[in-house]
Formats: sequence, structure tokens, C-alpha cells
Amino acid sequence: MNAVEFSDVTLAVGGRTVLVGASFAVREREFVGVLGPNGSGKTTILRAVLGLLMPWRGSIRVLGRPPSRGDPTIGYLPQVRSNRAGMQLSGWDFVAAVHRGHRLGLPFLDAVGRREIARALDRVGAADLARRPLAETSGGERQRLLLAQALVGRPRLLLLDEPLISLDPHHQAAVVALARSVQEELGITVLFSAHEINPLLGAIDRVLYLGQRQAALGTVEEVITGPVLSRLYGMAIDVVHLHGRIFVMSEGQDMERDAHRHYEAHHAGPSHA
Ligand SMILES: Nc1ncnc2c1ncn2[C@@H]1O[C@H](COP(=O)(O)OP(=O)(O)O)[C@@H](O)[C@H]1O
Ligand SMILES: [Mg+2]
Repeated sequence: MNAVEFSDVTLAVGGRTVLVGASFAVREREFVGVLGPNGSGKTTILRAVLGLLMPWRGSIRVLGRPPSRGDPTIGYLPQVRSNRAGMQLSGWDFVAAVHRGHRLGLPFLDAVGRREIARALDRVGAADLARRPLAETSGGERQRLLLAQALVGRPRLLLLDEPLISLDPHHQAAVVALARSVQEELGITVLFSAHEINPLLGAIDRVLYLGQRQAALGTVEEVITGPVLSRLYGMAIDVVHLHGRIFVMSEGQDMERDAHRHYEAHHAGPSHA
């Protein structure tokens, strides 16, 4: 059985078509990197897998069934995470807050629930963060707690939307390695979105690259090539391999890095709003 299957899927958000006639299948127990420029549809695809967005055309199957909202077999780490409100919470409270879908307010936990939270914290090596207030955790530690949240309920499929955003390269590598080791230990499927391929190299089995309302799924060697990426970016792309890293270039610009930095400068966080 495939973990995620798109057959001739067209997705539209707010009157805009994001994906047209896409077909691909992610196998069970695969670790797939979801790549593509800003606005290419990474978040939209994950939302469709969650059943939060119905396809305009075509069909989606998730672990053999149509997507359904609140599916307990799917763990989700959303891209937009405002942690400010919960900064006084302890690591334990933070993870417990999602137990049985209690995203707001803290549920009463029985012994089984407490074991489940402890297990999720343990799984990501965050047992020592249980008592610490969120405000006193580093970016990398907070990502571990977020991953623990996504693991509560024992999902078979994990959707991690841009967990590397605003982490330094060292913490990025740690988060990727942690997600990979959790995926292998639990034997689950992971879709991990990012805007740059390099932090994911060596960890992912395959890559789902999005652009120009199209999707290409394959190994890094198959997908991160001039011809495929030129089609997905809608412009001439050169793929440059250097010291074990890959650069997606167009006219001297690194499309995965420069384009994003430019975007971030124009979409500064809430503190600048
Ligand atoms: N709520 C929304 N209303 C209107 N358009 C949206 C909404 N969410 C996303 N979009 C549009 O859908 C496209 C895909 O967005 P998204 O899936 O967030 O891309 P990515 O995650 O790859 O950056 C973008 O063009 C974006 O502007
Ligand atoms: Mg996104």
C-alpha cells in the first residue's frame, strides 16, 4: 500500500490553481523531502493530505483511504507556529496540549495519557525539557518538542511543514537527523517540507519537487537536474554539485537560497509588522 497517492489531482486555493493534474505515490516508510519555491504549494499539498482541502479534480488516497479531517494516523507539524501565547508552558504541558486533539486548553490526563506523552518526549530525546518553560528553550529544543507533539497518538504518517525555518545550519542538521531516526525506529512515512535541498541530502529517500503547478517525485539524482528543474521553475536552471552540496542556479542566482532570503526580507515576522 502507498502512504500517499495523488491521481490526476488539481488543487486550488482562494480561486488560484496551485497544482494541475498531478500524479505521484509516496510509498509506506519513505522519508520524502517536499521542495519548491515559496508559493509552489508545499503547504497546500500537506493540507490536502490532511483532508483540510478537497481536490478540485482527481483523487487523493492516504494510507489506502480518502483523506479525512482529524485522522489520528497522521501527525502534523504546521508551518505557522506562534509560540508566544504558550511560552510560560512547560515542555510537558506543551506536548500534552495536543493529546487527543486538545489543541486548546490542557486535557486531564489519565495514566495512559501520561505514558503517551512521556513516550513522545522520550522518543525525541526531550525528557529533560519536560519541566522547563518553553521560553527557556532554544530553537532546536523547541523543534524537538514540536516533533514530540506530532508523535502523540502514534501516527503512521508524519507531515512536517518547514521545520527548519529560522534554525541555524547546526540545528537544522539535528532536526533532520532526529526526524530520520524517528521515522526509521517507528517505521513510519514522513513528508518533510523545506525550501533548500542541502540540509536534507543523505536523509531523504526521495524528493517531491513542486513548481509551475507541477510536481516531480523521484530520487535526488532523478529530480534535481537541469531539465526537470527548468520545467518546474519555468526558466533555465543549472544544477551545480560542489563539495557534496547541490546548488540550483539561474543566471548566477541560487534559486533555493537567494530567492528565499529575498522573500523573508519582504515578509518579516510579527515583531516587525
Ligand atoms: N488561504 C489562502 N488564500 C489564497 N491563496 C492562498 C492561501 N494559501 C495559499 N495560497 C496561495 O496558494 C499558493 C501555494 O501556497 P503554499 O501552499 O502556501 O506554498 P508553499 O508552502 O510552497 O510556500 C500560493 O500562491 C499562495 O499565495
Ligand atoms: Mg508553506
